[in-house]
Amino acid sequence: MSNDNLAALIAALEISPDNDVLRAHVVRELLKARRWKDAQEQSTALRVGQHRPLALLADARASLEAGDLPAARSAYTQAVQADRSLIDEDLEAHLEEGVSLRVPSTPGQKNEEPAVDNDNRLRTTFADIGGMEALKEKIRLSILYPLQKPEIYAAYGKKIGGGLLLYGPPGCGKTHLARATAGEIGANFYILSLNEVLSMWLGESEKQLAALFKTARQTAPSVIFIDEVDALGAKRSDFQNASTRAIVSQFLVEMDGVVTNNDKVMVLGATNMPWNVDSALRRPGRFDKVLFVPPPDKTAREQILDIHCKGRKLDNSVRLADLSGKTEHFSGADLAHLVELATERALADALRTGQMRDVTHVDFQAALKESRPSTMEWLRRAKNYVNFANQDGMYDDLDAYLEKARIR
Ligand SMILES: Nc1ncnc2c1ncn2[C@@H]1O[C@H](COP(=O)(O)OP(=O)(O)OP(=O)(O)O)[C@@H](O)[C@H]1O
Ligand SMILES: [Mg+2]
Repeated sequence: MSNDNLAALIAALEISPDNDVLRAHVVRELLKARRWKDAQEQSTALRVGQHRPLALLADARASLEAGDLPAARSAYTQAVQADRSLIDEDLEAHLEEGVSLRVPSTPGQKNEEPAVDNDNRLRTTFADIGGMEALKEKIRLSILYPLQKPEIYAAYGKKIGGGLLLYGPPGCGKTHLARATAGEIGANFYILSLNEVLSMWLGESEKQLAALFKTARQTAPSVIFIDEVDALGAKRSDFQNASTRAIVSQFLVEMDGVVTNNDKVMVLGATNMPWNVDSALRRPGRFDKVLFVPPPDKTAREQILDIHCKGRKLDNSVRLADLSGKTEHFSGADLAHLVELATERALADALRTGQMRDVTHVDFQAALKESRPSTMEWLRRAKNYVNFANQDGMYDDLDAYLEKARIR
């Protein structure tokens, strides 16, 4: 990889610092380029988690360069013990002669599995999302199948690409859904934090934006997720407005490029305030598909509770079906919080008495008393926009939801 490409990757990492997949990629490239110190520096964020062995390998290289042989050996041994694919003959030659640092290879051993499989287990997929069946199906049709079966779309003369804008009340799974969309097909997932980009110096934001799209193209298939898309269209002072316009146009150039070139890069956006989204962003080929992410219905609430109760010690008295009936208008985040509250009660008891006990119905009842649904305020506000600003039918699915839920 050229130095320029590597620099672009590192720049992308600066806007998307939590992207471990990208970070691991950067560390591998830095190691290939024999930039040991840089590799170690970029890998510190990977020390906990699935990429830990890679971070250890980078440590080993940096320690060797610093002349600390024992530290290098120890780090290298741990690295290859955890992940045999990291075996590095060149590095071994530099470490002590005659000492085999390799782990004896036993076929079928756990750490012989390819790295992709390991990723599979940690990835978020549609299975981690309770309910939302109709939404999942729409995303399959407009994002997943086009990436997986481009030839079929081509045969029907259908252009793929273009963005999908998710909107809805806070905590109802927009970000979660976007991440799972990428996970569903093993695509790389990039989160673009708009507020961070907008706070950069004039000119710098455009560069970062371009770097991110470039990386996404290089590592396609990818999904770029842009949270708070409304920030691009928010009313600003004249000065800021000039720089925002520049970013919006850079963004449009990138997005249009992705569509024209069939880049296998999909753009997902999310917002709580779709009415503030710049209309230029909603033209064909851009965020032309707009989907409402509603608060979960009863079935979805039960599934969400079930997902969040996994791995917790629940007593038989807990009936998730009953709880789902008592949590109307709760968001996914509210439900996750409810489970936390109930669990905390059992935990507090265990700490006080030294006796472990399961989470019971009573814990959930108490947790319910302390909880309020957080979506109502948003839904009421949304009602106004639907009444006065739905000329183009953008909010039809929201409108239908509000009718059904009798929100006025
Ligand atoms: N359908 C769901 N299934 C399982 N968990 C969910 C679901 N919806 C929401 N959650 C839980 O709620 C949390 C918040 O969801 P998420 O961050 O995706 O909401 P959001 O719509 O992006 O909210 P915001 O508008 O505040 O960004 C998730 O981390 C997850 O734990
Ligand atoms: Mg979100």
